[in-house]
Amino acid sequence: MTQNTKDRVVIFDTTLRDGEQSPGATMTHNEKLEIAELLDDMGVDIIEAGFPIASEGDFKAVSEIARRSKNSVICGLARANFGDIDRCYEAVQHAEKPRIHTFIGTSPLHRAIPNLDMDQMAERIHETVTHARNLCDNVQWSPMDATRTETDYLCRVVEIAIKAGATTINIPDTVGYTAPTESADLIRMLLDRVPGAEKITFATHCHNDLGMATANALAAVAGGARQIECTINGLGERAGNTALEEVVMALKVRGDIMPYFTGIDTTKIMNISRRVATVSGFPVQFNKAIVGKNAFAHESGIHQDGMLKNAETFEIMRPADVGLTDTNLVMGKHSGRAALRSKLENLGYSLGDNQLKDVFVRFKELADRKKEVYDEDLIALMQAGEDAANDHIILDDLQVVCGTKGPQQATMTLTIGGDITSTTATGDGPVDATFNAVKELYGHGAHLQLYQVHAVTEGTDAQATVTVRLEQDGNIATGQSSDTDTVVASAKAYINALNKLYVRRNKIGENQREINWKDVS
Ligand code: KIV
Ligand code: ZN
Repeated sequence: MTQNTKDRVVIFDTTLRDGEQSPGATMTHNEKLEIAELLDDMGVDIIEAGFPIASEGDFKAVSEIARRSKNSVICGLARANFGDIDRCYEAVQHAEKPRIHTFIGTSPLHRAIPNLDMDQMAERIHETVTHARNLCDNVQWSPMDATRTETDYLCRVVEIAIKAGATTINIPDTVGYTAPTESADLIRMLLDRVPGAEKITFATHCHNDLGMATANALAAVAGGARQIECTINGLGERAGNTALEEVVMALKVRGDIMPYFTGIDTTKIMNISRRVATVSGFPVQFNKAIVGKNAFAHESGIHQDGMLKNAETFEIMRPADVGLTDTNLVMGKHSGRAALRSKLENLGYSLGDNQLKDVFVRFKELADRKKEVYDEDLIALMQAGEDAANDHIILDDLQVVCGTKGPQQATMTLTIGGDITSTTATGDGPVDATFNAVKELYGHGAHLQLYQVHAVTEGTDAQATVTVRLEQDGNIATGQSSDTDTVVASAKAYINALNKLYVRRNKIGENQREINWKDVS
């Protein structure tokens, strides 16, 4: 089939901006760099890497992502003022292909926030887009809350932005209010009515408050949009954004009725989905389309029978299309380093010799405790990472006494900043006792926002993956760890989050956002 460039849909990923902005999904600097590299590798056209004016941490992350970018355009967000736009360009300019994305809320409710009337806002749009375009050839402009903006006014401001030099006009459904037919009609209307609209690209940016973000984005494409803004796993403010994996696979599988294509290597989807789930601390729901644990599971007898005869009976896409590999090859304590390397490569991890050496040691430790090591175990092993020798707090030992009558008791030894220290604490259950012991040894003011346990595989010897989210003075950190012992995994996840908070505090609130991204000036 020949592909017409008119039907090419540009994928704009905003996991690191809209996704990271959702409460609790904060990522560390290194995690952002890693996710950006995976997005670039999978063929994402544009990466919205952050909001440079928001914090020193955002600025550094966007600058570094820009420096390291290979193929993707690197974009930063800026409100409608010169300071934001200058700071944004300062960060993205290091990219081979930089983009400034500036926005202002144009609906009646949003116009009331900066207290600008229609004419004053139109003037502000003209000035700020012109300013951005003087700095950078590639400028995207968004009328925030476009789907609740008066149609005539929307046409007027889109025209102003195009005349001022915007090369992409994004139409955000900021509050997830629109529906598919309306979404398509809106883009069609703009293409029909706005002079110069045929020269620029229209983008769609949908939130999922009514569960229609994917449908709305695809409908906008049918209406003429050629850029979809989306995030991995649908991460994002409130109910999230359009999920990248859903729109990309929908276009791939239903090319018969949606004759559009993207440049995404879909076999990279599972790996990045797992990574984003880990670093954001937002697990993927089991029945989530494309990337959920059950998305390709066929439990019922009738389904299994059909699958054995012909996979297409119940499968509209092959697991391998999204990077799911055969899970039948189980590893164990007799598996060697070469087998581990090949298995990890199959799962999307390519390791250097030294890294492989370290992972092999941890794999052997796990295989000693657990007879059969499944793919999920290896993924958990890779995602948990190692306890870094230079961590401020290191767990040396943990003994827990559990009785039916309670209270439970945890005796713990930690190395904190090089000093070894021990205590015994009690609590309401073994995990509570363990967290109390950490607090006795390392007095901290962090609040527990989330404690979550997932069994990695089935069986009583299954590993547990524990996620802990802590908040202290506006900084949020997510720690994760896996172990066959749930209490040990809990202790390590808790300590992991404390170590991240420690690093952040010592960078003088680098990640602390002091501004409201929705303010205009
Ligand atoms: O949802 C929204 O309106 C946004 C804009 C900044 C594009 O995220
Ligand atoms: Zn948004």
